[in-house]
Amino acid sequence: MKRKLVRVFCYCFYYFFSRYLPRNSWAGGRFWNALRAIPCRHLFAECGSPLFVDRMVDFGMGDKIHIGNHSGFGENVRLIGEIYIGDYFSTSINVFVTAYSRETGRTDIPMQIQGKRPDKPVFLGDDVVLFANSIVLPGVKIGRGAIIGAGAVVSKSVPSWAVVVGNPAKVVSFRNTPEEDAYGRGMIPIACQLPERSAPAQDVEGA
Ligand SMILES: CC(C)(COP(=O)(O)OP(=O)(O)OC[C@H]1O[C@@H](n2cnc3c(N)ncnc32)[C@H](O)[C@@H]1OP(=O)(O)O)[C@@H](O)C(=O)NCCC(=O)NCCS
Repeated sequence: MKRKLVRVFCYCFYYFFSRYLPRNSWAGGRFWNALRAIPCRHLFAECGSPLFVDRMVDFGMGDKIHIGNHSGFGENVRLIGEIYIGDYFSTSINVFVTAYSRETGRTDIPMQIQGKRPDKPVFLGDDVVLFANSIVLPGVKIGRGAIIGAGAVVSKSVPSWAVVVGNPAKVVSFRNTPEEDAYGRGMIPIACQLPERSAPAQDVEGA
């Protein structure tokens, strides 16, 4: 019960107050960041340290967000659904990551009332950067050390160390020799390899 109240308080503090504070790059940035990161810590299912949250980031309830250490989000980033993020992950501004999509298969009823598709979790590996205005679609896994170029729309999984650009995003180069197991450790963030760290997720219902 106490945990639920803390979550409600953090949710209100973040969405009605701290997300509007100045950006992290302005004077006093560490302070503004702390006022955002502290409530986020209570809202995310798992959260490493330090956490960087720039202004106007929107992650809904945040109860399906798992994030490792030294990671964070740039200004105006939007996250929807179940998302697993590794260590040293970062984004530029206006990035959109979604595990959620809507049903569109039927033509006998409007799409508006076809409901949602089951979430397809998104995995963003260690040391990944999503540059400005990039979009990551449901079910995508991005391997360790990959770069997603500005404006890219990522609809398929990305191997470790790849640089991808465009819509649909295509690999243009590799920063390093692709690992034999491109979907190995770097693909599955540490956060989701440790089941005992998943426990807080159950505390969020109704918060
Ligand atoms: C993805 C990125 C890092 C690639 O940089 P790079 O490895 O130096 O790549 P290059 O500049 O050599 O470009 C390689 C090719 O991809 C193309 N390309 C690069 N970035 C692209 C992008 N975002 N979208 C589409 N094509 C792109 C280039 O035109 C070039 O094509 P060519 O080989 O036909 O000439 C960079 O272009 C980018 O998107 N930076 C994001 C900047 C940003 O968002 N800044 C916000 C502040 S953090």
